[in-house]
Amino acid sequence: MKVVETVSEMMQVSKGAGRPLGLVPTMGYLHEGHISLVRKAREESRTVVVSVFVNPAQFGPTEDLASYPRDMDRDLAMLKEVGTDIVFAPPAEEVYPSGFDTWVTVDKLSQRLEGAVRPGHFRGVATVVAKLFNIVRPDRAYFGQKDGQQCAVIRRMAGDLNMGLEVVVLPTVREPDGLAMSSRNVYLTPEQRKAAPVLYRALCRVREMWQQGERDAERLRQAARQMVQAEPKVERIDYVSVADAGTLEELDTVDCPAMASLAAKIGKPRLIDNVLLI
Ligand code: PAJ
Repeated sequence: MKVVETVSEMMQVSKGAGRPLGLVPTMGYLHEGHISLVRKAREESRTVVVSVFVNPAQFGPTEDLASYPRDMDRDLAMLKEVGTDIVFAPPAEEVYPSGFDTWVTVDKLSQRLEGAVRPGHFRGVATVVAKLFNIVRPDRAYFGQKDGQQCAVIRRMAGDLNMGLEVVVLPTVREPDGLAMSSRNVYLTPEQRKAAPVLYRALCRVREMWQQGERDAERLRQAARQMVQAEPKVERIDYVSVADAGTLEELDTVDCPAMASLAAKIGKPRLIDNVLLI
């Protein structure tokens, strides 16, 4: 496994790499959710590139950039074990040299849901992912449904800008009690950790109602909201949404492929989760 830290070397290496080339972008502190993406990339590619880069541009001024969990040695061991060929782990100055002044904005999709609570977040995500696509030139790039809006934004960007690669989205990997795996789960105290699966339970309730024929989106949102509100460890609910899976516009009636999603603060972290109604 080769570790590459500069943009110029990464561009060089990917030019000569065996195809198809699969890219898995990450911010490190890897868990089974990330590894499931790498495994799929391994199955489908001659060359597997995993990027590990905590992207400053997608963190707001009051967010956890400085304290975001990092453990490069552990990440490298996990990536080697699963058969990664190349780890791209550049320092921030490589990605954003002085004078950097170009941004990718996916307009409407970035303003909804997470975007309304985290202004600028998806501009940072879209920009770094566009840069990774340009630097690594993958045939396929792998993302997790866990970050459902991120998947929608990246799909839109790759299509709108004719980036010529396939965006592959894989299912959310969960703990045995249903909590979606996330690097930020380490911030939860044991009591908060016990309460956190309420988010997925609420989404499962929505999916069950929908499977039983409920098509009134407001009733579905209400059911989820009530369940989450009933958990005292939940400090704040940022949103509960039942939206068109492609545009993320809120629905009145669920008459198209939809995504039920929510975000809530439990202790230090904001947790997000979603299920598809398709
Ligand atoms: P990060 O949070 O490290 O996640 C990297 C990839 O792993 C994303 O595609 C994310 O959706 C996926 N992932 C995280 N938890 C998952 C889970 N429980 N099951 C399945 N997949 C999961 O998302 C980012 O980094 C960044 O925004 C990035 C795309 C790298 C751009 O900086």
